[in-house]
Amino acid sequence: MSNSERTPYQILGGEGIRHLANVFYDIMDTLPEAGPLRAMHAAELQPMKIKLAEYLTGWMGGPPLYANKYDTVCMTTPHAAYHIGPAERDLWLLCMDKALEQTGASEELVAMLKVPMFRIADAIRNKAGPSSAATNPNIIAAG
Ligand code: HEM
Repeated sequence: MSNSERTPYQILGGEGIRHLANVFYDIMDTLPEAGPLRAMHAAELQPMKIKLAEYLTGWMGGPPLYANKYDTVCMTTPHAAYHIGPAERDLWLLCMDKALEQTGASEELVAMLKVPMFRIADAIRNKAGPSSAATNPNIIAAG
């Protein structure tokens, strides 16, 4: 089988995807510029590491672990409560880019994921711009 026919799941394997999800949230937890994204999440990230790995396993062409457990692959509903504009989307993608880099993803895999990762993150985006709190001059003036 040539590389171009392999799915990301075949390249990474279940273990590789779990590692990617762990590193992704560790980066979100420590990268200073990801602070606003980290603040949207619960204090305990371990459950999210498991959920993201389950989701990505199916999304990358492996067994549908998330769908089997939660009966859906819709990501709009679990994100609906959060303000996700272009800035939040881009921070999420930044953490994913860094996680791919840190886990030694091949150029082939990075290229394969680039457009679909953007598309799914942009599909989860539910606002056109920054939150009103961030643009409210009163809040900015109050520091
Ligand atoms: C676009 C930017 C995104 C932001 C700002 C964001 C933010 C969040 C937040 C705040 C939660 C809830 C976390 C908690 O309960 O502590 C969440 C849940 C989740 N996110 Fe995202 N997310 C984004 C994109 C994505 C993408 C692209 C994926 C998958 C490829 C994804 C997969 C998940 C999963 C699987 C959950 C758990 C859903 C559940 O409760 O079952 N997220 N996300």
